[in-house]
Amino acid sequence: MEVREAVERRRSCRAFLDRPVDPTLVRDIVVRAGRAASGGNLQPWIVHVLTGEPLAALVKTVLEAIGERDPRDLAGDYAIYPEPLWEPFAARRRAVGLQLYAALGIGRADAEGRRAQFRHNFAFFGAPVGILVALDRRHGPPQWSDLGGYVATLMLLAEEAGLATCAQEAWTLAHAIVRDHLGLPESEMLFCGIALGHGDQNHPANAFRTARAAPDDWCRFHGFAADTSRGA
Ligand SMILES: Cc1cc2nc3c(=O)[nH]c(=O)nc-3n(C[C@H](O)[C@H](O)[C@H](O)COP(=O)(O)O)c2cc1C
Repeated sequence: MEVREAVERRRSCRAFLDRPVDPTLVRDIVVRAGRAASGGNLQPWIVHVLTGEPLAALVKTVLEAIGERDPRDLAGDYAIYPEPLWEPFAARRRAVGLQLYAALGIGRADAEGRRAQFRHNFAFFGAPVGILVALDRRHGPPQWSDLGGYVATLMLLAEEAGLATCAQEAWTLAHAIVRDHLGLPESEMLFCGIALGHGDQNHPANAFRTARAAPDDWCRFHGFAADTSRGA
C-alpha cells in the first residue's frame, strides 16, 4: 500500500472485531512508528501497549471507577479543547459528534445514549489492543506536537497492515485512574489512547466519513502558479 492510499483510507474506528492481532505485528507497528521525526530527535513519546488480561484489567478498573458518573465531567490532566471553542472549530467538532450519533441512531435528546457511547472510549471501543501515549510533563508544545507525529505514523502503519485505529484524547479524563492502576510516575503525563485492532466494517459506528475543510480555508501557497494555489 502506498502512503497516499493509507492516508486516504485511514479513518477513526469505533467498533472492533473480537479477533486478536498478531503480537509480532503489534510490536512492529509500535516500534516502527518510533521512526517518526521529532524536534531535536528527542523522541519524547512514552508508549504503553496493553492486550489480554492487562488490557481487560485496565478497562475494568477505569469503567468501575467512573461508575455512574458522566466521564465527560471528569477533570482531564490537560484541557482537550480551548474553552470556549470558537468557529469554525466548534462547528467541526459538533459535526463529527452528530455524524457519529446519527450513524448509531442516538437521537439529539438521548443524553444517556451519548454518555454510553462516550463511555465506550474507556473500553478502547472493544479493540484487542489498547495503547497509551504519554510524555514527561516538563515537555512543552513542540514535544506535544512530536507525539502527534508518532500517533499519525502509527495509525498509517496500522492501516497499511490492514488494521484499524482510533486516537483517543478521552483517556486524559481517566488519567488519575490509569496512573494508579499502572503505577505511572507523577512526572508522566498521559496524552492519549489509541485503540488498535481489526475494524468491524459492518458496524454503524464505522459507517461514516468525516469531512475536511476546503484547502483554501487553511492553506496558502506562496510563489506557486495560480492553478497550483488551488491546493489538492
Ligand atoms: C489526538 C486525537 C485524539 C482523539 N480523541 C478521540 C476520542 O477521545 N474519542 C473519539 O471517539 N475520537 C477521537 N479522535 C478521533 C477524531 O474525532 C477524528 O480523528 C476526527 O473526527 C477525524 O475523523 P477521522 O479520523 O475518521 O478522519 C481523536 C483524534 C486525534 C487525532
